Amino acid sequence: IVPMSAPCEAPATSRNIERAGSAKQQLSRLVKESLGSLFPDEVQPIVAACQAKFGDYQCNNAMVIWSQLKGKTTQFKNPSSIGQAIAKNLPESEMIESTSVAGPGFVNIKFSNKWISKHIQNMLVNGIEQWAPILSVRKAVVDFSSPNIAKEMHVGHLRSTIMGDTLARMLEFSNVEVLRRNHVGDWGTQFGMLIEYLFEQFPNWEDAGDQAIGDLQAFYKASKKKFDDDPDFKTRAQQAVVKLQSGEDKYRHAWQNICEISRKEFDLVYQRLKVQLEEKGESFYNPYIRGILEEFERNNLIKESEGARVVEIDGYDIPLIVVKKDGGYNYASTDLACLWYRLTEEKAEWIIYITDVGQQQHFDMFFSAARLIGWLPASKDAYPKASHVGLGLVLGSDGKRFRTRSSEVVRLVELLDEAKNRSKAELIKRLEDNGKITDWTDAELESTAEAVGYGAIKYADLKNNRLTNYTFSFDQMLNDKGNTAVYLLYAHARICSIINKSSKDIEELKKASTCMSWKINTGVIGKIVLDHVDERALGLHLIQFAEIVEEACSNLLPNVLCEYLYNLSEMFTRFYTSCQVIGSEQQESRLLLCEATAIVMRKCFLLLGITPVYRI
Ligand code: ARG
Repeated sequence: IVPMSAPCEAPATSRNIERAGSAKQQLSRLVKESLGSLFPDEVQPIVAACQAKFGDYQCNNAMVIWSQLKGKTTQFKNPSSIGQAIAKNLPESEMIESTSVAGPGFVNIKFSNKWISKHIQNMLVNGIEQWAPILSVRKAVVDFSSPNIAKEMHVGHLRSTIMGDTLARMLEFSNVEVLRRNHVGDWGTQFGMLIEYLFEQFPNWEDAGDQAIGDLQAFYKASKKKFDDDPDFKTRAQQAVVKLQSGEDKYRHAWQNICEISRKEFDLVYQRLKVQLEEKGESFYNPYIRGILEEFERNNLIKESEGARVVEIDGYDIPLIVVKKDGGYNYASTDLACLWYRLTEEKAEWIIYITDVGQQQHFDMFFSAARLIGWLPASKDAYPKASHVGLGLVLGSDGKRFRTRSSEVVRLVELLDEAKNRSKAELIKRLEDNGKITDWTDAELESTAEAVGYGAIKYADLKNNRLTNYTFSFDQMLNDKGNTAVYLLYAHARICSIINKSSKDIEELKKASTCMSWKINTGVIGKIVLDHVDERALGLHLIQFAEIVEEACSNLLPNVLCEYLYNLSEMFTRFYTSCQVIGSEQQESRLLLCEATAIVMRKCFLLLGITPVYRI
């Protein structure tokens, strides 16, 4: 117990850490000061983590500055002398242990162990929120999942759901307000056909409720067949669209009924994956389309082309069609109205769309149209900003688009259930082999199997660069070795068991870590020491968490976070192999490193939408 009088270092409040930012941001500020003292014009610091043999970070400004000053300066004779000056002018700081200049002016910077320890201790005491990155946006829309009513939600939509949820989680962690939007395809001419078919096949559909339609995809196929085969039906279906769009009660009611059936099916997937989404489908933006097209007309941006109304976009052979030949609106006119709504009504600064990469051109074109009319700034990097996150295909083991034998597109719920069932069977086998099965309740087995099974699917998807196609394989994703969720979840559980085995109160240790006089009062050293190379490497990697999340957000690349997580577990293994924890002289410090690793791993899991597992 800490005596009341123990002089503790005041824990940093979230406010002053908020200003501090990631290690990289903090270092960049020091470099910026140095640059500011040397050069009259503002120079943006170029700072990056580097190979351990050089230091921890490197500042690469010297070469760039030299290329600009060459021949115009007598103060510096080469890039190396600029590097020397940058190093020499770095302000005094507890953060920096030493600097050296290498080659043509690379400034290598080494952090002090003391600063790294302090940074970790602060997180341990005040929570991982201390390590939330600072982003320049406050409000974002993430448009993801977005399946189409009455059509199947396929693995492409699953990939968008997983990716979108992760991006939303990372932005939310970074204190951005995120509108998670499900832009479902709930509007368009196909509804005329579906409604008319419903009326004709099930005259008493209102009493039968959902039962009338049953399998919505089969219903869709049957009505489409009739639409293609029967010209009279086709005419009636087209009239039905008009009645639906003019708001006739009976038609709207039937439409809502059909949407509701799809919604229930989509929800089964969202519930399993624990994904939160707010539906604002295409139909929501319909009332705004006319007004925004008038704005385009007023700005002379709309032309007539083969009976359609179009916007011409530089760099494209074909124009962007905004009103079809038959006078109807389309995907593009809806997306333009939707973008306008998100920018002006919802005041989002960053709008992120996640779909398969095949839709790239659609997004490029309507973003360009929005730039023409001035809703978006001319520079693609400036805010407000619209970004399309393109996803590669999900492939089967045959290298072709992923399908099951029974149906064209995989039934997602069955896919998720299979991952869970497989992971449950594995878990039971493992526990039986270890003779531990009796310690586990059914509920625990179930929740662990779920965490591992769904986690495996998510991680297998997220660890790839999103643009590349990836091969769906249960055997690979459920392997407990290699870069998989199973391996990582188990690694985390192992760290938890090390901490438990020590029978130390880790919360007490955390508090002790900020108390100067802890040793004097209790004989226990609470500080984190990083004397061993593997302790230091782990510590340095831990403090890089914030800048990794920042990078993953800015570039919309969750695989960066996966790679970080995998490396973290590798570094932990190295540390644990070379540094004895329990019973060693440095036991307290090392337990704190274990705890910090477990906390950061858990946060990575949560940001990736994966539920952590505490024992195996
Ligand atoms: N419903 C579309 C599809 O299934 C995706 C919609 C994406 N969002 C958007 N605002 N266009 O491909």
